[in-house]
Amino acid sequence: MASVPSLAASVHQRLADALSAALPEAGAADPLLRRSDRADFQANGLLALAKKLKGNPRELATKVVDALGESDLLKDVEVSGPGFLNITITDRAITETLAARAADGDRLGVPLKDKPGLTVIDYAQPNVAKEMHVGHLRSAVIGDALRHMLDFTGERTIGRHHIGDWGTQFGMLIQYLIENPGELAPAADVDGEQAMSNLNRVYKASRAVFDSDEEFKERARKRVVALQSGDKETLDLWQRFVDESKVYFYSVFEKLDMEIRDDEIVGESAYNDMMAETARLLEESGVAVRSEGALVVFFDEIRGKDDQPVPLIVQKADGGFGYAASDLSAIRNRVFDLQATTLLYVVDVRQSLHFRMVFETARRAGWLNDDVTAHNMGYGTVLGADGKPFKTRAGETVRLEDLLDEAVERATAVVREKGEPIGLSEQEITENGVQVGIGAVKYADLSTSPSRDYKFDLDQMVSLNGDTSVYLQYAYARIRSIFRKAGDARPEAHPELALAPAERALGLHLDQFGETVIEAAASYEPHKVAAYLYGLASLFTTFYDQCPVLKAESGPDQVANRLFLCDLTARTLHQGMALLGIRTPERL
Ligand code: ARG
Repeated sequence: MASVPSLAASVHQRLADALSAALPEAGAADPLLRRSDRADFQANGLLALAKKLKGNPRELATKVVDALGESDLLKDVEVSGPGFLNITITDRAITETLAARAADGDRLGVPLKDKPGLTVIDYAQPNVAKEMHVGHLRSAVIGDALRHMLDFTGERTIGRHHIGDWGTQFGMLIQYLIENPGELAPAADVDGEQAMSNLNRVYKASRAVFDSDEEFKERARKRVVALQSGDKETLDLWQRFVDESKVYFYSVFEKLDMEIRDDEIVGESAYNDMMAETARLLEESGVAVRSEGALVVFFDEIRGKDDQPVPLIVQKADGGFGYAASDLSAIRNRVFDLQATTLLYVVDVRQSLHFRMVFETARRAGWLNDDVTAHNMGYGTVLGADGKPFKTRAGETVRLEDLLDEAVERATAVVREKGEPIGLSEQEITENGVQVGIGAVKYADLSTSPSRDYKFDLDQMVSLNGDTSVYLQYAYARIRSIFRKAGDARPEAHPELALAPAERALGLHLDQFGETVIEAAASYEPHKVAAYLYGLASLFTTFYDQCPVLKAESGPDQVANRLFLCDLTARTLHQGMALLGIRTPERL
């Protein structure tokens, strides 16, 4: 495994060296390099430097150019405008760098972090005995992508699915089950859909009794106390609700083509034994105070509606613990037991106030600090085509499975239309339909900045034109089909060959994969990876239009070199899509 410095990094280094040779008084000045349309790169750093040194920027720039001298890397460096450097690199450097990437297997020359931390990532956290909704979809899709991205950079990750498996509603559910045994079939006997419909039925039925029967209400209340005090029969029934729900969760995650590990499903209830101590620590340190019997934390800087200070309730006046206490206890567990250096939460932006208060409380308590930090990747709302929160016509929340099924159905129609003429089998059409449909849903979510709302529009999602996963999957499949037609021709880099403009553009973009992923992982922005991949597929399309591959004009070496570019493009697309949790079918 060999990490390959990017062309940008090499040019940057060369420039920085020339700068300090030509202008020792500049210290370690940054040449401020970026990709440019005029040349391959442009450096703007000399402008600021000239100001600082009170010199003429064009003169300084000329000195730096002289200091650069000859090399295999730089073809042309030109001083332009008020003192920019326009930098063109050699075709040889491009091909050689890409060849080094190609020789590095799945990692494509992307370096691993020097000092990896441990990120505990809290994502895909539905609630027991409740249907999952589109918000849970976002958390799962974004969280899964972030995790793949972090793993790829060498960061260590642990997943935590903080499912809602505790609370007063269980008193009602369990009491109902005690009085109506047999209403919930054992989890082992049902599939995901049956599990959810059973849970829904029990939920509705128990709610109806709860709302109409005062005596039942009282028995349900007592049941909450029994649950909290660990009564065996009560806990066993609670466990049945959890198990039944997990059958349902797993069926949805499987549909989403997402791997969820059982040992990482650690819900609110898991922190029960820590809550009293969490409260004691906060009270003893003075971080939390008693107010009207409750234990709360106040914040000057955090205000809610009407500019009123909003306290965080650690313990209610009746002694009960809620959502905040479980999150605070989870922080202690993640920091002190799991030894996390970063806590990442992928939770609806509507909970951002909750997390601000929880994080601030943990900081005051000393559990979080400059070395151990917490972030909430608060994501926006999923909107319908009408721009309002996504609902069915009847105004109900859309069932996640229906939505995914419909995406697959639409995608299968697209795949069939394109696939039948090229002889795809029925089995391939079905399999590809799933990969294209699920990919479409994930990509639509991941290609917009997480913090923004996005429109759930299936027509747009499975469109072959534009910024969609299908477009990227087709680019990949097209390359695979070139290889099926290539006969004996093999991909091989030929650094001695001159590159056409479309080849250079594709090559320079391919080289940026690692930097893009590292940056996107550090800022938790999967949409930057999506944008990169879309750019890659577009540049490949232009290359393919302008540069014949198997019939390359100057003979077998150019065929091999173009196949080499095709191969690296396919591998980069495949790896990049995998980071987003999306598959790339071989034939489409
Ligand atoms: N189960 C919660 C919900 O559906 C999300 C949990 C988020 N994670 C957390 N640590 N609070 O709203």
